[in-house]
Amino acid sequence: MKKILILSASIYLLSSCGNSSKPNEEQGNQQTPKSMLESSSNENPSYDPKRGEGKFTEEGLALKPGLDANMAISGDKIQGVKCASCHKLTDEKLVGPGWKGVTSRRKPEWIMNFITNPDPMIDKDPEVQAQYELCLVRMPDQGLTDDDARHILEFMRQNDAAK
Ligand code: HEC
Repeated sequence: MKKILILSASIYLLSSCGNSSKPNEEQGNQQTPKSMLESSSNENPSYDPKRGEGKFTEEGLALKPGLDANMAISGDKIQGVKCASCHKLTDEKLVGPGWKGVTSRRKPEWIMNFITNPDPMIDKDPEVQAQYELCLVRMPDQGLTDDDARHILEFMRQNDAAK
């Protein structure tokens, strides 16, 4: 009996890490009162859970439609060295959540801020906190330059565009 309990608990952990966010939440009905959204459990009113915390903004990034293949190749190289030990490219959890779908779960500026500045966001972002509780590892700051981060973002967009 005990074994079964432990087994089902670990299956729960494996399957839920990384799936805590609702993909359509941010595109959701603008009329939905904030108090009904999951992210309203935000205890830091100054923290913007859509943008995260850091220097990157939607305007600053000014992403164009379409992918830059060279940036994505460079991003792939960097993630192979600095990220792949913890993140798969599928939706499967390794140490951290799988990357498939991350560019629809998160805004590009959120991803850029998080990967260059994870510490304050792990402390403040309600959805990262939920992932942290499931993954039980704090994502380390990998010392990415702005260019590294931008190239990894392009690689993630390419990974999500591919079937
Ligand atoms: C030691 C393991 C580890 C390494 C290395 C690591 N991460 Fe993470 N990452 C995590 C964990 C664990 C989480 C979940 C949040 C938490 O617990 O801190 C996470 C979360 C994320 C998220 C949010 C995912 C989502 O679904 O919202 C992104 C994006 C991310 N990591 C990108 C990166 C990038 C880019 C690198 C490489 C530069 C990297 N990570 C390296 C462990 C790691």
